[in-house]
Amino acid sequence: MTYFAGLYALQHAVKAGYSAMVKIITTVRELKAALEDGRMAGKTVGLVPTMGALHEGHASLVRRSVAENDITVVSDFVNPTQFNDKNDLKNYPRTMEADCRLLDSVGAQYVFAPSVEEMYPEPDTRQFDFTPLDKVMEGPNRPGHFNGVAQIVSKLFYAVEPDRAYFGEKDFQQLAIIREMVRQLGLKVEIVGCPIVREEDGMALSSRNTLLSKAERKLAANISHTLFESRIYARRHTLASTRQYVIDTINSFDGLEVEYYEIVDGNTLQPVSHWDESSYIVGCVTVHCGKVRLIDNIKYKE
Ligand code: PAJ
Repeated sequence: MTYFAGLYALQHAVKAGYSAMVKIITTVRELKAALEDGRMAGKTVGLVPTMGALHEGHASLVRRSVAENDITVVSDFVNPTQFNDKNDLKNYPRTMEADCRLLDSVGAQYVFAPSVEEMYPEPDTRQFDFTPLDKVMEGPNRPGHFNGVAQIVSKLFYAVEPDRAYFGEKDFQQLAIIREMVRQLGLKVEIVGCPIVREEDGMALSSRNTLLSKAERKLAANISHTLFESRIYARRHTLASTRQYVIDTINSFDGLEVEYYEIVDGNTLQPVSHWDESSYIVGCVTVHCGKVRLIDNIKYKE
């Protein structure tokens, strides 16, 4: 969507009355002004960064922020610098009106929906290094992705200066990288990780699920089924065998193709070879279903 189309959608959302409770803000200056009084009065601020196309997974983060903070800001911004695939950026679903309705219903105070020009008045040339966290899984498969995520999330942290920020374990690697970024930059914000919200059939909720056809959506449920089954399989098998079991099972479905499946230490994200090597072990998968790239993960040990 172009900048003007985005503005049109915003104006339309305002006219349609969906801003009854949640206030739409489009500039950093306005946002800082809106938060100033509350902060002076000692109120706490929670931030939920999103790219919109909100669903129950996002809603769970917002509910938690509303419960734990006096003021909740939800950012709704499709960040171009984290897309290494132009088509993915172009096809990313944008549903501002529905997003505002959902945010009203969960009690967020502000939705921050800036233009690309507002967030990137000039190109962001910052290069982050999260070694070894960004050298595995999504890192090599999506060059520049986590650098773009760090660029936008750090800008959001500077704009909002939240006491707490909420991220889903659905993007397990992203969560670890954000924690590392906060450590590197010496920011004060507390990072809160929230559990994966799933559909009834086990499929992890994702904005990209709406891009699946009905048949693909049904097929994609086999990703989480296989992960759940692998937890039982793992009780009697080696880690290497469990990893292969997941890859082979998912690939056995016509229309699903595993990009990677790694069983890693939940803190360092480095692959582990034996079940007793760590007390926190997570399996992270990326699967292609048609043109859609889906990610999910499962905890074996915690
Ligand atoms: P987005 O994909 O919109 O996700 C926003 C937040 O919602 C992330 O922290 C993500 O992990 C969480 N989330 C998504 N699906 C979830 C689910 N099923 N259960 C629990 N949480 C879920 O992640 C991004 O946007 C962007 O990279 C962002 C951090 C906003 C930077 O642009």
